[in-house]
Amino acid sequence: MLRSVRKSDKELYDIIMREWGRQKTGVEMIASESYVPVEILELQGSIFTNKTMEGFPGNRYHAGYRHLDELETLCIERAKELFGADHASVQPHSGSNANQCVYAAILKPGDRIMGMRLDQGGHLTHGSKANFSGKTYETMSYGCSAETERIDYDEVEKLAMEFRPKLLIAGASAYPRFIDYERMGSIAKSAGAYFMVDMAHVAGLIAAGVHPSPVPYADFVTSTTTKTLAGARGGFVLCKEEFAKKLDKGTFPGAQGSMHPHIMAAKAFTFKRALTDEYRDTMKQVVKNACRLGEALTARGFRLVTCGTDNHLVLVDVRPKNITGLQLDTALDYVGITVNKNQIPNDPQPPMISSGVRIGATAMTIKGMKEAEMDIVGGLINEVAENAENMSALDSIKERVQELGSKFALNYPDYYEAE
Ligand SMILES: Cc1ncc(COP(=O)(O)O)c(C=O)c1O
Repeated sequence: MLRSVRKSDKELYDIIMREWGRQKTGVEMIASESYVPVEILELQGSIFTNKTMEGFPGNRYHAGYRHLDELETLCIERAKELFGADHASVQPHSGSNANQCVYAAILKPGDRIMGMRLDQGGHLTHGSKANFSGKTYETMSYGCSAETERIDYDEVEKLAMEFRPKLLIAGASAYPRFIDYERMGSIAKSAGAYFMVDMAHVAGLIAAGVHPSPVPYADFVTSTTTKTLAGARGGFVLCKEEFAKKLDKGTFPGAQGSMHPHIMAAKAFTFKRALTDEYRDTMKQVVKNACRLGEALTARGFRLVTCGTDNHLVLVDVRPKNITGLQLDTALDYVGITVNKNQIPNDPQPPMISSGVRIGATAMTIKGMKEAEMDIVGGLINEVAENAENMSALDSIKERVQELGSKFALNYPDYYEAE
């Protein structure tokens, strides 16, 4: 792998090798990240990248579709089997595109959509004014109760009955608790709205049965195959049979052109792998590790938003340590622990500063960390927070982070080294 690139484009090769060095031993705690198995790297680099194709199996716009039809049909069947869905579109290029495919399937510009506020944990594509979704559709957003920091379902219901959106969206990028999909689905029904769940963050946990599934309640379920699914860098949509034709039309020609078959091959592998016991056990451990990390941080004086977690991430209020999310994120990056600053509900700080950090357990669990290491990582994060301005203290913490990271080095056997 990369043997030819090393010869023909050394500059690019060197950048990749520097990133490999960072990934191999770094302590990666960004909640949307994970490490993929080597098969994903191979499939994403496979010869399917040479094929241009539009349309769907049995109904194509270019010749030479025989093996591509086999591939797409296999991928669709695997997605349906994994999540128990009636229909799947596996063409969306990313999570954002998956959402766009649904919008193109059922909405017209100016229609009303309602999703979770960006600064309370929602995603840009759920109606933020900075995003096409907020520019194309009339939007209303809901948030969390100031008291519980959890979604206020009564408030969602009240808003939905007043606003009467055509689409109600559930799902989040920074929400540590289960979402009551059944309740949200019944609110959508009462308001006469379609119901879409964006499960991008928790799809792997859902596949492994450690998080409730939205599939029985939602008209459309969108996702990435990255994050907790730990696979291809792409997206997909599941839907009920009655919306299958609409969804396909919304995907192509509604929102996208030709497909990315090399990524589709990697998606097919992602879905198959998520059915294995090994994958399920890893996801169970991800949740255990996130809980333990939360406990380790709470014991050291941090405050967790909602006092804990049900999933792969903790949202940490860092104000008890008299620092900002930005300061902690920067100092942690210096020592080799990667997280991201994140607003907490009703945050007095702007997004680029933030009062919180979002920390995920997926990547390091895949590298083999268990609860004991989460205690150590919690301790290191606390030391960094309490010494964020003290360079000599940070240098000494950095050494310990490197030592810990080296014990859990990324295992791509001889993959890059054997060049
Ligand atoms: C809930 C949610 N939906 C959609 C997306 C967008 O996915 P992508 O970055 O693949 O477009 C994200 C990414 O962070 C997300 O968290």
